[in-house]
Amino acid sequence: MAALQEKINDKSMRIAVIGLGWMGLPTACLFAETGFKVTGVDIDLKVVKVINDAKSPIPEPTVDAMIRRNVESGRLKATSNIKQAATDNETIIIIVPTAIDENRKPDYSAVERACREIGKGLQVDSLVVLESTIGPGSTEGFVRELLELSSGMNAGSDFSLAYSPIRATAGRVIKDIQSYPRIVGGFDQRSLETASALIGSIVKEKIIKVKNLRTAESIKLFENIYRDVNIALVNELAILCERLGVDFDEAMQAANTQPYSHLHSPSIGVGGHCIPVNPYFLLEKAEEQGVDLRMVHLARKINDNMYTHSIRLVSEALRACGKKLRRSNVALLGVSFRANVKETRLSMAKTVNNALQRKGVSMRVYDPRFTVEELKALGYNGFSSIERAVENADCILITVGHDEFKTLAPSKIAFMMRRPAAIVDCGHVFDPNTVEKEGFIYRGIGRGTWTK
Ligand SMILES: NC(=O)c1ccc[n+]([C@@H]2O[C@H](COP(=O)([O-])OP(=O)(O)OC[C@H]3O[C@@H](n4cnc5c(N)ncnc54)[C@H](O)[C@@H]3O)[C@@H](O)[C@H]2O)c1
Repeated sequence: MAALQEKINDKSMRIAVIGLGWMGLPTACLFAETGFKVTGVDIDLKVVKVINDAKSPIPEPTVDAMIRRNVESGRLKATSNIKQAATDNETIIIIVPTAIDENRKPDYSAVERACREIGKGLQVDSLVVLESTIGPGSTEGFVRELLELSSGMNAGSDFSLAYSPIRATAGRVIKDIQSYPRIVGGFDQRSLETASALIGSIVKEKIIKVKNLRTAESIKLFENIYRDVNIALVNELAILCERLGVDFDEAMQAANTQPYSHLHSPSIGVGGHCIPVNPYFLLEKAEEQGVDLRMVHLARKINDNMYTHSIRLVSEALRACGKKLRRSNVALLGVSFRANVKETRLSMAKTVNNALQRKGVSMRVYDPRFTVEELKALGYNGFSSIERAVENADCILITVGHDEFKTLAPSKIAFMMRRPAAIVDCGHVFDPNTVEKEGFIYRGIGRGTWTK
């Protein structure tokens, strides 16, 4: 342990990061920036090439500049050879995807594949840290078993093994990794201390060393499930507010002035790589233990179905304009899964778009963060500007509150649309009074028919 600790202190430890995606690449960059020699490993040869060309394959702030600096200085290089990377480096950090299959069961095949390859090259006294989000018991269970089986060595006595979840969100990954306290669990004390020292070198906040690997794995899932349940709750309250004539946004802001209230914003549902997926990692474990996590199941169901409410709002708004959903033109603004990021994985905007199309609506899609070619590649009828997208539209549906939409003046687009026209704001972008003053029919999640 002393040898590894010393190598962490003097930055001579060589680090391999397996999986160079939204989380892995920023992590590799942070270690390289700190002064370590880092080998990034990815099975995608295109990703490897782009990085070795000193460019970033992901649109994540500051990562581009970090790659340029560190590839040019020789501190960061990429390869597709996992086994060799495991042989050449003393620390191997695994940040590959974890997903669910069509039956919503965890799919850990990328972690399994990585572990088998790592084991083939693993050296005595190495440290392996898993950072992918995963169900409790996985690191101690199949991860350890696969590493031991393919290396012929034992965790604890021959190599160290730790788990540390990444607490970060696309669009601000570097900042989040550096500034949030970091959770670390170890297979044994040596693993815990070495991993904590290493991760502490890129994190400015404190390292929280927890009792065991299972606890560390659970914490990440609890955080995401908390958000999922909270969002499901506000989505239901928001629908009720529309009927009661209560403005949910106003009620939420006022409620949150009480320190124990943390109501989130209602939305068309929950997208992204984590929140719609991670609950199933815990649900599987709960099922194995004979525990029925009813609230977790219910939150998933509510959030997965929330998109139908946005369709209902569009339909109602069009009816108020004297129009039918079928054969209407709807301009859908925003394809990202969250405001102000260029990330579409599991975005509910796609679900809404497809469902409206199936109902005979002609969709016109714009997102300021995507080119028209990118929108088309994502399967949308994409437009290059907001003006083109709203031209002759009967209704604007804002799915996500990008900052660019907040500066949009309804007066500037009103005359381009087929009047009477509607705006359905699910991104909390517009002041309903301003929208109605321009003659639009207004609907918004949690706001319904806007009556002052
Ligand atoms: N994206 C997020 O917001 C976020 C936040 C926190 C935690 N996480 C977790 O981090 C992990 C990684 O997520 P991500 O968003 O970075 O994924 P990603 O899909 O952006 O990137 C994963 C990368 O790993 C590569 N890869 C896949 N299998 C591999 C293998 N066997 N060996 C080597 N490379 C392999 C892929 O080619 C890809 O480049 C997941 O467990 C995820 O749940 C993600």
